Amino acid sequence: MIVCFCKTASNRDIASAISEGAHTVDQIGDHCGAGTGCGSCREFIAGMIEEAGASCPGKGRCYECPRSSGKPNEPHLDHPSRHAA
Ligand code: FES
Repeated sequence: MIVCFCKTASNRDIASAISEGAHTVDQIGDHCGAGTGCGSCREFIAGMIEEAGASCPGKGRCYECPRSSGKPNEPHLDHPSRHAA
């Protein structure tokens, strides 16, 4: 299934990027280009990262998560418990 029409990136391309360690939408873009065009697929990609459990590396790097506000160490509104430590 094509997820990103701008870059013709599929869900398999994105899953592959996640399995290789990508945990942000921008990192997915680095791998396969997905999300680097119009941006309309970025929310879906963020959901794929979240579903894979790959979004939060922890250790004070929450700002890299696609669900974060982008501010260092600011907890996510939708799952702040992950960042208690
Ligand atoms: S559809 Fe993915 S960036 Fe446009």
